[in-house]
Amino acid sequence: MIHPDILAGRPPRSAAEGAPVVLRDGSAVLIRQVRGTDAPLLADGFARLSPQSRRLRFLGPKTALSAAELRYFTEVDHHDHEAIGALSAADGRGVGIARYIRDAEDPQAAEIAVTVVDDWHGRGLATELLRRLSDRARQAGIHRFTALAAAENVAVAGLARKLGASLAGRGPGTAEYEVALVPPEYSLDWWFDCVDGPAQPVRDGQTDNKTRRAA
Ligand SMILES: CC(C)(COP(=O)(O)OP(=O)(O)OC[C@H]1O[C@@H](n2cnc3c(N)ncnc32)[C@H](O)[C@@H]1OP(=O)(O)O)[C@@H](O)C(=O)NCCC(=O)NCCS
Repeated sequence: MIHPDILAGRPPRSAAEGAPVVLRDGSAVLIRQVRGTDAPLLADGFARLSPQSRRLRFLGPKTALSAAELRYFTEVDHHDHEAIGALSAADGRGVGIARYIRDAEDPQAAEIAVTVVDDWHGRGLATELLRRLSDRARQAGIHRFTALAAAENVAVAGLARKLGASLAGRGPGTAEYEVALVPPEYSLDWWFDCVDGPAQPVRDGQTDNKTRRAA
């Protein structure tokens, strides 16, 4: 399903919201938490993924997201399940998304997944989304991220290396990565906050993606 605004050549109404970030190639995105109303944006982003990217993300062939999946991926509680998305500042379309889902048996651990639409690969967007997701996770008391990827996924292997993750195990055709989240007092959050500008306002008892007020 494509958002009616996009079909009409207009950016979705949410286009103007989010923290502005300029990627290393100079392209601009707006990054914010995913909302329950983002299902059309997510469906549009999924429609622009190559079959290979879909397969790597879902570890198998995937042609569409069901209505239930769209709800699951967008109606997140921002504590045990957080999702952060990037919109193109130029047209308001979704270009990347990263999420963590807390481990039910180990509340200090969470599994992550990240996807960037193919046209936007290689600009540093996944790195940026994961940095912000890590901030959120630390605020929510998560100390460790794991990620399950296809063994052949060289992009994830490189991304994992870049983020200091290590290979924790291998399954049939898969590789599991693990990374410890640096405690806030030792992180560079304060520096990124300076670069990013002032924190976003707190709404509905939630926090923005940079300050450490609540989770
Ligand atoms: C994995 C994915 C999210 C990376 O997104 P991206 O925005 O292109 O990643 P970045 O630009 O932030 O790259 C970060 C690092 O990952 C590595 N990397 C990214 N793409 C790579 C590739 N094609 N080959 C090798 N290494 C790659 C590099 O080390 C890169 O750092 P560098 O550019 O400074 O060298 C993207 O390829 C994607 O959406 N793939 C399909 C879905 C998927 O596999 N999701 C992972 C499921 S857990």
